[in-house]
Parts: sequence; C-alpha cells; structure tokens
Amino acid sequence: SRSINLAVIPGDGIGQEVVTEGLKVLSAVLPQDVKLETKEYDFGARRYHATGETLTDADLDALKGHDAILLGAIGDPSVPSGVLERGFLLKLRFAFDHHVNLRPSKLLPGVETPLKGQPEIDFVVVREGTEGPYTGNGGTIRKGTEHEVATEVSVNTAYGVERVVRDAFARAQARPRKKLTLVHKNNVLTFAGHLWTNVFNAVAAEYPEVSTEYIHVDAATIYLVTQPERFDVIVTDNLFGDIITDLAAAVSGGIGVAASGNINPSGEFPSMFEPVHGSAPDIAGQGKADPTATVLSVALLLRHLGRDDEATRIEDAVAADLADRVGGPARSTAEIGDALAVRVAG
Ligand code: IPM
Ligand code: MN
Repeated sequence: SRSINLAVIPGDGIGQEVVTEGLKVLSAVLPQDVKLETKEYDFGARRYHATGETLTDADLDALKGHDAILLGAIGDPSVPSGVLERGFLLKLRFAFDHHVNLRPSKLLPGVETPLKGQPEIDFVVVREGTEGPYTGNGGTIRKGTEHEVATEVSVNTAYGVERVVRDAFARAQARPRKKLTLVHKNNVLTFAGHLWTNVFNAVAAEYPEVSTEYIHVDAATIYLVTQPERFDVIVTDNLFGDIITDLAAAVSGGIGVAASGNINPSGEFPSMFEPVHGSAPDIAGQGKADPTATVLSVALLLRHLGRDDEATRIEDAVAADLADRVGGPARSTAEIGDALAVRVAG
C-alpha cells in the first residue's frame, strides 16, 4: 500500500526518546511516495495518574483503525507493580489477539556477548502471547494468613497452541536451516505439555522439510548459553518464552538491541512492535538510551506490513552501525538515530 497509518505510543521513561529515533529511521527508509501518517497516544504512567485509566474500550477502538502500533516502553516506579502490565500491555495483547510474540536474536559482528568465542547466534523465538499462565486465571484464599493458598492456572487451548505452532513451522520452513525446537516442560507440566507435544508432532507431519526437536525449558537455558548455534526457530509457551527471550537477549547483544513484535497474523487487529527493554527510568531524559532495539522493532513492523526491502535495509544499517561502534566513543540516543537514518537513506 502507498500509506502507513501508524499508532505511536511513546509511553514512559526512555520510551519517548527511543520512539523518536525509531520514527526518524522509518521516515528515512520509506520511499517518497509512501505516505506515513502517525498518531500519538499518551498511554502510560502520566495518563494513569491523571485519569486512573490505563487502556479503555474507546482507546482500543481508536487503535483498531491503525495499520500497526509502535510502542516505546510502559512502566514507572510511581505506579504499583502489575497495574500497567495487566492494565495496558497484557490488555492490549489479549484484546488484539497478539498470539505470536516474535523475538529474534542475532549476534551481529562487533557486538559484545558474555559468551566465549563469539558463537553463531541467529534464531527467533515464537512465544505464545495470549494463553498460558498470563491469562489471569487463579486466586488466593486465606489471604495474608499463614495458610494462604494461591493458584495461577496456565490455560492452554488446542486452538491457541495449534495456531502458534503452525506459525512457527511456517517461519522455520522459510529459513535456510529449517529447524524448529519446541521448548516446554512436559515431564512435569504433563497436561499442557502433552497438548503442546501432540499438536507439535501432528503439525510436524505436514512439514517434512523442517527438522524438529524437543527440549525441556531448564535444559534450553543451558543450551542458550553453551550451544546457542543449535537454535533456529523456537516455539514455546507464554511464560517460558518470556524467560528465555530475556536470556536470549542477554547473550546476543543485550536488551539494547532486542526487538519484538506482538503479532496478529490474520491482520484482524493491528500488530504491536516494541523493544524488549523497559522504560529505564534511571536513565530517562539523558539521551543515553540505545534506540537500536526500537529501530529493529520498526524493521519487524515493516516486514509484517510486507515491506521486506525496507526492513532489510534497516537491519543492514543496524549491522553496519554496530560494527562501526567497536572502540568508538559513546554516542547519544539521537546520534545513533541520525546515523541510522543516514545509512538507510543512502
Ligand atoms: C515482556 C515483559 C512483559 C511480559 C511484562 C511487562 C508484562 O516482561 O514483554 O517480556 O511478561 O510479557
Ligand atoms: Mn519479559
């Protein structure tokens, strides 16, 4: 299409700074005749303190009209833990059925890793985004007493598991190595584990070219550190995916470069793209935040909208910029954004 109608949610902390650079690079990469329209929304801590609202039905209606959503970061120490997480981030993922939470990890040349010997890291985690222990099913009895009991029920539906497993197989099929790993804990979480394993094996039969393996989540954390090159595409449940993608980010350049997409593949609702990092209030407003993760999230956004060329140009620009950083002086948020904007345009 000749236009992109983007919802922009800068959010809290460094969110505004990194989103500014993301949009700068987006404008620079788009051809002249593609019209970029943006509308900014003020969700986050300020809005919550002013109105008590996190994300209303009217907000969701407004967001529905966009082609995609770019988000900086949501969260502030002044808001009680869980309020914005449940009231905004998870509400948006559930309302817009963002069941594919896509988190690529690629260790680019020149980028530091805590791992020994610069291993080959190039995999993508397909994290289920709307089920598992994130659904808010549970409760507490005898709260505050020494006999308190708390349950947190993991919800796994055949429908929900199958659609995300299918998405992961399709992604694996499209990659050169064509390998898919199911990460779960089916030796202990036998009910959900069997559902995942059975669905995975059934869909595998339709993808004879994709090689498959199963790894328990605890073992997966070891392999992510000792043999990250063994992974190509990983599909996993919402909570396991949350945990292993932070580890994946840590070994492949850190959260400064970790991008994510909260995707509704059918396009029924707009997908949302955000850096994996949070709002980092400790460095907010100082121009110290690395906008690279947001810029790479913009690349995921473009690819989702079918703009592969522009997405690749952003990824190449980031790779070149990271390689150039080696040994160089620290640059500000805007300086990095400017350099990337120049590279993608040129
Ligand atoms: C993430 C975050 C969120 C999650 C929180 C903030 C709700 O950690 O995007 O990974 O757990 O999914
Ligand atoms: Mn997380």
